[in-house]
Amino acid sequence: EDSKKIVLEEDASLDKATRVKLFQLPEYRQKRVRVFGWVHRLRSQKEIIFIVLRDGTGYLQAVLSGRMSQTYHALTLNLESSVELVGTLQEVPEGKNAPGGHELIVDYWKLHGSAPGGDDAFTNRVNEKSDPSIQADLRHLVLRGETASSILKLRAHLLSAFRETYVKHNLTEVTTPCLVQTQVEGGATLFKLDYYGQSAFLTQSSQLYLETCLASLGDVYCFQESFRAENSHTRRHLAEYTHLEGELAFITFDDLMSHIEAVICDTIDILLARPAAAALIKQLHPAFKAPARPFLRLSYVDAIKWLNEHKIQRPEEDADGNTIKDADGNDKMVDHAVGDDIAEAAERKMTDIIGTPVFLHGFPAHLKAFYMKKVPGSGAGRDAFTESCDLLMPNVGEIVGGSMRIADSEELLAAYAHEGIDPKDYYWFTDQRKYGTCEHGGYGLGVERLLAWLADRFTVRECVLYPRWPGRATP
Ligand code: 4AD
Repeated sequence: EDSKKIVLEEDASLDKATRVKLFQLPEYRQKRVRVFGWVHRLRSQKEIIFIVLRDGTGYLQAVLSGRMSQTYHALTLNLESSVELVGTLQEVPEGKNAPGGHELIVDYWKLHGSAPGGDDAFTNRVNEKSDPSIQADLRHLVLRGETASSILKLRAHLLSAFRETYVKHNLTEVTTPCLVQTQVEGGATLFKLDYYGQSAFLTQSSQLYLETCLASLGDVYCFQESFRAENSHTRRHLAEYTHLEGELAFITFDDLMSHIEAVICDTIDILLARPAAAALIKQLHPAFKAPARPFLRLSYVDAIKWLNEHKIQRPEEDADGNTIKDADGNDKMVDHAVGDDIAEAAERKMTDIIGTPVFLHGFPAHLKAFYMKKVPGSGAGRDAFTESCDLLMPNVGEIVGGSMRIADSEELLAAYAHEGIDPKDYYWFTDQRKYGTCEHGGYGLGVERLLAWLADRFTVRECVLYPRWPGRATP
């Protein structure tokens, strides 16, 4: 009852408090500051309340004592309430730990928005031990946690470091459409929608549009969401992911792989040189080391040999693509042969044993998309090999897919026909070969996969704000 009567007022005779964000605090020792944020941790001891405040830019320990801790709002304060704290920033006494090595001795504070206690308390809802689907439903609250927010901050650094790298390499950023009427990576994974009575798709890749920019803007890149209606429940597949794609004119296949390697290594160097980003990497992935250059290059044919030498087999399939079971009901395993797809499980084992980034290159045409350039003299049609590469990273597997593109009109028309694609819809893409063709190539990088590698995450679902996978598009 008494507590309801205590009303705090800010003491106007004190120094004026400077309004700051928590990341700025190191410059404000011994000064009076005003901060806003959410109650991240809360502990009461006799007449003192310790708060760890969070504002998205950092954390701050604050001490409420005397009248500060005796108000009605102080006695009923719960985690995740939003508050305004005013006080003097002091170094913590020796032997005590607090974020940044300082704490705020509060002389005035105000509740902005309360949060419930009891059954509905934050910690009762967001519980690391709860079922993954409940955690997914509560993603909007999970994001407030230290790990989730650190991953997203590192993601922001990663995107800006990539942009810095592309300035250095003279690629121009473009923004490509999401609503499209052509496929790039096969009809099976297209999300179809009604578009003013016509059919359209959500984009799978901006590659074809980037190719049209070469003669206009020179080398280009984009960050765009790509959509894949894959029925894949794996730890590296999303239905919507952030796709970083680049396209370069007048290059060779060797130039393409060197460029991909340089972009990734330069970007990692930028991150490690930025104190805030380096600290996040250290927090999330203490053992992370920048990969050595050059990256290992392994041809597809040599990779098949490597798999067989290391006794990494694949499940045998019947003509319809169904796995064949042995007498015990387990998948019947067989050696790999040239022409086989290297499936995710085998690829992952191989990358983990090799333990460094690997470029796999020269895949058979029948395993890859229609637009890929054939290795000169490697055969015709399906049996030919392509100037294609996948960059594999330990713990994640494929993070980049790239290739040189068919530069010749006739060859491209034949590739459409083989794929059952109506060339009519692709007139604008074909025109690139008609009006001054050039040898060119490009790549797509899955931002969430790169981040899973960099931040040592088990799944790409942790590396995106609101992950989408089969059956899930909420929150
Ligand atoms: O290998 P993909 O399908 O290649 C392309 O789309 C090319 N058209 C890109 C280009 O050359 N411009 O996809 C490229 C990368 C993959 O290596 C992977 O990192 C990521 O995109 N990716 C996915 N990431 C998360 N979830 C999915 N379902 C993904 N599918 C591809």
